[in-house]
Amino acid sequence: MSEYHDPVLLRESVDMLNVRPDGVYVDVTFGGGGHSREILSRLGRKGRLVSFDQDAEALANAPDDKRLILVHNNFRFLRGCVRAAGFDRVDGILADLGVSSHHFDTAERGFSFRFDGPLDMRMNRTGGTRTAADVVNTYEAEQLATLLGRYGELDKCFRVANAIVRYREAKGPVETIGGLLAATENVTPKGGESKFRAKLFQALRIEVNGEMQALEMMLAQAIRLLAPLGRLSVITYHSLEDRMVKNFIRSGTPDGRVEKDFFGRASVPLRAVGKAILPAPEEVGRNPRARSAKLRGAEKAE
Ligand SMILES: C[S@@+](CC[C@H](N)C(=O)[O-])C[C@H]1O[C@@H](n2cnc3c(N)ncnc32)[C@H](O)[C@@H]1O
Repeated sequence: MSEYHDPVLLRESVDMLNVRPDGVYVDVTFGGGGHSREILSRLGRKGRLVSFDQDAEALANAPDDKRLILVHNNFRFLRGCVRAAGFDRVDGILADLGVSSHHFDTAERGFSFRFDGPLDMRMNRTGGTRTAADVVNTYEAEQLATLLGRYGELDKCFRVANAIVRYREAKGPVETIGGLLAATENVTPKGGESKFRAKLFQALRIEVNGEMQALEMMLAQAIRLLAPLGRLSVITYHSLEDRMVKNFIRSGTPDGRVEKDFFGRASVPLRAVGKAILPAPEEVGRNPRARSAKLRGAEKAE
């Protein structure tokens, strides 16, 4: 296991790609490089792998391998970046969504309520995007409540949003994890602290990084980039991501709406490969991060 990140559903997700030794593959979430290394191990001399990560710290893990092309960019720009790398069509695309263990375990990145640190949560710290502190300090109560309900699936999202707004009005801007925990202390359920905080942090992280918008853009482009019979392999970690992936696989659209052509014929660009795959209990026991993982695979129509 890598200290940076222990890869989840490694064999299952790479098997899903049906790697051909001379094929072209894309890993849109390089992280610690576990999945990329596994793909490289199945490629021959002529095979190619394009690996993305928006976090420069992740790409520092990359092996020195002439078959590997690294892209330091958001996967929302998938098609343009892959074309710039010289490929109009690819044989498989793998995504292992969300943040890495390195993100969770580094206090200064602000992803975990286990440590105190700046309220940051940006995966890409060079892009000049907003931080979690910007969201917490500048959003109106209603905007905050909407994102907490939508992305964190928090039951009492209005109560939580109002508590944050009252706290910042009384004490000034909330700049740290400790500050956010204090601001929400009175609305944190006793005995359910970890679950509540995990949802609160998940919601802020998804908002800060525009995760759902990036996923939608990536999946729409992935369909166009895949060669006929090319494979898509996606690991999700929460129900919002999984629903979107399932909809794209079923219908080619984010909301599950099937598009029809001029003659009223349904156009469905992908075919699901088997059912969703969950990690075996042995993997969950060894790697708790695998607990919420779900793998879905699809094949592009001929
Ligand atoms: C779960 S980790 C991937 C771990 C990797 N499969 C491994 O085996 O080590 C997700 C990685 O994807 C990156 N990431 C998440 N969303 C991204 C996006 N929209 N564009 C580019 N990289 C992204 C994160 O920075 C993180 O390093």
